[in-house]
Amino acid sequence: MKKIINFAHRGASGYCPENTLAAFSKALELGATGIETDVQLTRDGQVVIIHDESLLRTTGLNQLIKDTDLTELGTLDAGSWFSPEYKAERIPALEQLLKLIKHTDTILNIELKNGIMPYPGLEQKVIELVRACQMTDRVIISSFNHYSLVQCKQAAPEIRTGILYMERLYRPWEYAKTVQADALHAYKLAVTPEWTAEAAAHGIACHPFTVNDTDEMKQLARAGAAGIITDYPDRLAEVLAGRGA
Ligand code: G3P
Ligand code: MG
Repeated sequence: MKKIINFAHRGASGYCPENTLAAFSKALELGATGIETDVQLTRDGQVVIIHDESLLRTTGLNQLIKDTDLTELGTLDAGSWFSPEYKAERIPALEQLLKLIKHTDTILNIELKNGIMPYPGLEQKVIELVRACQMTDRVIISSFNHYSLVQCKQAAPEIRTGILYMERLYRPWEYAKTVQADALHAYKLAVTPEWTAEAAAHGIACHPFTVNDTDEMKQLARAGAAGIITDYPDRLAEVLAGRGA
């Protein structure tokens, strides 16, 4: 049986400030075999790692990423909101994360956060960075913006893509094929054993999110998920090793 990928959501975000190098390093320490992260574009066109379009929640600065240059991001504390011990954490560039995991076999799920802000050129920039690090075989690009995923697939057929969605779609494996996607990144409640079996029969992997409860992890593993996205990769590692509480 194929190993289920243990994706740390925004890094080990249950233990460290999300989407920081501390959270990514912690994820690797705790047994994650994959990392999920969110990317956006700065005013000067750099691909950076952050979930919200605004800097307010994680740095206290009431300003949009699209209006901020990379050098200014380097001055912002992206860790204290979580705990004072993380005050040195910064908003990383995607390149920093690629370098951190380049010499591991970690799978990287890069979520393009271009559902609200269009960020023209984001797709191509992400593809170039992934290609430059020679990691195309270990990256899955996901997004709620499925137009963007089609663009990615056309520009880089060698990189896998996953459609993100919240509601139960009708025969999503068929829809996935219309947008040339390889995986379904579905909200956890949309996933059943029958559904994953049918998706797998159509060659489409299922990676549900965001699953923090060990009983739900077990159910989804039994239901045939190919990967599970969690804030607590240590819990999932225990479950996958057959030791989960
Ligand atoms: O990729 C799964 C999950 O990250 C999607 O939602 O809002 O946490 O980025 P969000
Ligand atoms: Mg995400």
